[in-house]
Amino acid sequence: MQTVNRIDPLRTAVAALRRDGPVALVPTMGALHEGHLTLVREAKARAAHVVASIFVNPLQFGANEDLGAYPRRLAEDSALLAAEGTALLWAPDADAMYPAGFATNVSVNGVSEGLCGAARPGHFDGVATVVCKLFNQVQPDIALFGEKDWQQLAVIRRMARDLDLTLPHADAIIGVPTVREADGLALSSRNAYLTPAERAAAAALPAAMRSAICRIGDGEPVAAALAGLMQALLAAGFTAVDYAELRDADTLALLAERGNGPARLLVAARIGKARLIDNMAA
Ligand code: PAF
Repeated sequence: MQTVNRIDPLRTAVAALRRDGPVALVPTMGALHEGHLTLVREAKARAAHVVASIFVNPLQFGANEDLGAYPRRLAEDSALLAAEGTALLWAPDADAMYPAGFATNVSVNGVSEGLCGAARPGHFDGVATVVCKLFNQVQPDIALFGEKDWQQLAVIRRMARDLDLTLPHADAIIGVPTVREADGLALSSRNAYLTPAERAAAAALPAAMRSAICRIGDGEPVAAALAGLMQALLAAGFTAVDYAELRDADTLALLAERGNGPARLLVAARIGKARLIDNMAA
């Protein structure tokens, strides 16, 4: 696996790969876990070459968030990516991504609002800006993202459509289902912040979500099922529920009732030092 840190060698390396077949991009912020490696495996199954990026993007962290504490493990991550057959690692230096004087912001209205966008102002602008740059830098044939960050996926799809980004077709942005621990907890780099007791209690999140989805499916009003979900989380040791909402799976429009179209239950809740997010088809 080749590693590059600057734009010019990136372009040369990607051009060489592309001569030999389609290129898939897996953007990450590092601290790789099985969820990321699943993205790489899926990318390999769909394209001749996998380019992974590792960049802890300061633009998507708020002033009081964990940018400084975010785990950085480039050597371990490189070894994991190489073992999965990644062809190229794009690990830009900070000034290669944001040169002095950088002044552009990509902001996606609508889908960025509410849910995580409410608690993390500017977060999705930061995501959209860096992913727009990654698409332009690598110019992949396809790009893969985890469905765990469902709102992020919706923002990226909207941005790519709106800006006519160079991905070749509408389905080129691929969402890969969330990878879960045996007790149902979604894999996340932020699970590392949990103490053993908090980690055990965190399994209440997917359990309460599954239960609410069953209750909604059985005809319970959405508001009552969501209130039950929040109570269950607080009883299990979560300290706050930032949101628990039923939304249209594509537009993210809020749903007061379960209609006939695809719906998604999305939750963010705090336990210990971690803010956990999850979503499921509902
Ligand atoms: O999901 C992530 O790891 C990040 O938000 C992404 C898409 C790599 C952009 O920094």
